Amino acid sequence: MERKEFLSLVGLSSASALAAVCMGSCSKSTENTTTPGQPTQPTTPTNVNITLDLTQAANASLATPGGYIYTGAIIVAKTISGSYIAVSKVCTHQGSTIEYQGTNQRFYCPNHGATFSDTGAFIAGPDSLASLKQYKTTLSGNMLTITS
Ligand code: FES
Repeated sequence: MERKEFLSLVGLSSASALAAVCMGSCSKSTENTTTPGQPTQPTTPTNVNITLDLTQAANASLATPGGYIYTGAIIVAKTISGSYIAVSKVCTHQGSTIEYQGTNQRFYCPNHGATFSDTGAFIAGPDSLASLKQYKTTLSGNMLTITS
């Protein structure tokens, strides 16, 4: 290989590598972008129709009052009183995954401390936030259906 040919090949490879790196790190994502101090409105699941078999091991946490699971972008919990509730697991602040705190009967975001009632209504947080989208739950035998 001639020196000129080699340098041309190396130069092209370096430019390609630099372009690939820049494409990955220089482009801006429009997903969950925030303006400092402004809450985001992350996408929440719509047209939901999910059925959970409560006898399955993956859903075992729902046998215990205060227990919860995630199914897709939804958090499903069993309240202390024994009813089932389902809301979007996406915090309306900056999109972190919320948890259910059964003893406090609320949803909680560990990222900045937002709290939501067990119906998903906003209680307190770093900003005035939108409530969590709530889904309808229907229990039939051991089958729990979640719909929107
Ligand atoms: S992401 Fe900030 S409170 Fe949830």
